Amino acid sequence: MTDDERVPPTSVPVSAVPPASVPLRGSEHGSALGASFYETVGGRPTFEKLVHVFYEGVADDPVLRPMYPEEDLGPAEERLLLFLEQYWGGPGTYSEQRGHPRLRMRHAGFKVNPDARDRWLAHMRTAVDALDLPPLAEETLWDYLQRAAFAMVNTFEE
Ligand code: HEM
Repeated sequence: MTDDERVPPTSVPVSAVPPASVPLRGSEHGSALGASFYETVGGRPTFEKLVHVFYEGVADDPVLRPMYPEEDLGPAEERLLLFLEQYWGGPGTYSEQRGHPRLRMRHAGFKVNPDARDRWLAHMRTAVDALDLPPLAEETLWDYLQRAAFAMVNTFEE
């Protein structure tokens, strides 16, 4: 590219000016600053591993396993994967397929008591550990998962 080609023509209308949301770059041709958390932690493979290790724990859990209506945990694993990817700034496939998350509502039919929550979190803890993320990313992810799990409790019945 010659220098001339990089200079925008003076007649460019204001509407053709890039919007302020165009990502800032580390240098003229550097990578975008402020990448999503999803990208920062490694994108799809990271989230695939997270939900996979998590569902390995669920599969062996005598309280949680019977709560899952389907014989095959694969579809549930896929739904959690898509939700978490979307939440953290990855593809919006979850809502394309399932609509608005409304997670509390979607859990209303399941008995999510403190025991179920703690089991859910224990399997998530194992899964988060398996990712070996840098401390700040790990803390960010774990903090969210804990808050989300506490918010999902819908009964205190044993
Ligand atoms: C606190 C304990 C929790 C229990 C016992 C629990 C249990 C369940 C069960 C039994 C299902 C139905 C399986 C399916 O068809 O997908 C489900 C669905 C789901 N759960 Fe949880 N869950 C818990 C917490 C959470 C949390 C904290 C999140 C999000 C961070 C979450 C995200 C999801 C999603 C995205 C679905 C699929 C919703 C859909 O599109 O139908 N769950 N959960």
